Amino acid sequence: MRLRQARKAQQGKGSHLGEDMVFLRRFFGAPRQVGSVAPSSRFLTRAMLDRVDWAHARSVAELGAGTGVFTRSIVRRAHPEAKILVFEVDPALQDVIRAEHPDHPGLRLCGDAQELRAIMKEEGIESLDFVISSLPFTVLPHEVSENILDAVQDALRPGGRFVAYQYSSIMKPKLAARFPDIRTKFVPLNIPPAFVYDCGGDCREGAAL
Ligand SMILES: C[S@@+](CC[C@H](N)C(=O)[O-])C[C@H]1O[C@@H](n2cnc3c(N)ncnc32)[C@H](O)[C@@H]1O
Repeated sequence: MRLRQARKAQQGKGSHLGEDMVFLRRFFGAPRQVGSVAPSSRFLTRAMLDRVDWAHARSVAELGAGTGVFTRSIVRRAHPEAKILVFEVDPALQDVIRAEHPDHPGLRLCGDAQELRAIMKEEGIESLDFVISSLPFTVLPHEVSENILDAVQDALRPGGRFVAYQYSSIMKPKLAARFPDIRTKFVPLNIPPAFVYDCGGDCREGAAL
C-alpha cells in the first residue's frame, strides 16, 4: 500500500516520463554518482524547499540537480533578484535542465559541486543564504563528499542553512559534527523514503569528519 502511494507520489501531477527515463539511464551508467533510480517526489520536493526563507534569500545553491525537479520549484519560489547556482555533474542531466530554463537571468548551471567556491567567486557572491543538496554523500567517493561539505561550510553566511536529503541516517553524525543545529524530517512518500536534514549553527567551528 505504502509502495503504491509512494509510486503515485513520485509521478505526481504532470509526470515527466521522458525525464524519468533519462534519469534511470544515467543511474545505470553511474549508480554511485546518481544515487537513486528516480527523481524526488513532490512530497520530498516540498519538504526540502519549505525549509528555505524564499522572501529573504538572495543567493542559493542547489547541489546535484538531476533532471531539475527541485530546480523547477526553486525558480518558481525564488525572489526575482536571487542568484541561483545549480550544480549537476552529469552532462546529459544538465541538458535536461538547460532545455527547461534556457535563459533565466538569475540561474547559472554549473558542473561539479566541488567547484562551489570558485563559481561563487566568478559570480561575485560572497556567501550563500541556503544550500540545497540531493547529493548521495554515502556512496560518493569520501574525498569528494569531504570537499563538498568543506565548500558548503565555507560558503554559507552566518545563519545560513544547508538543507540535504539522504536515504539513510548514516550521514547524520557526520553532519552533526559540522553543523550544531540539525532538524530532521522523515518523508515516507518518496522512492526510497528519505530523511531531510536542515542544518545550521556556527558551522565554521565544526569539527573535521
Ligand atoms: C539522487 S540524484 C538527485 C537528483 C534530483 N535533485 C532529485 O532530487 O531528484 C543526485 C544527483 O547528484 C549528481 N551529482 C553527483 N555528484 C555530483 C557532484 N560532485 N557535483 C554535482 N552533481 C553531482 C548526480 O549526477 C545526480 O543527478
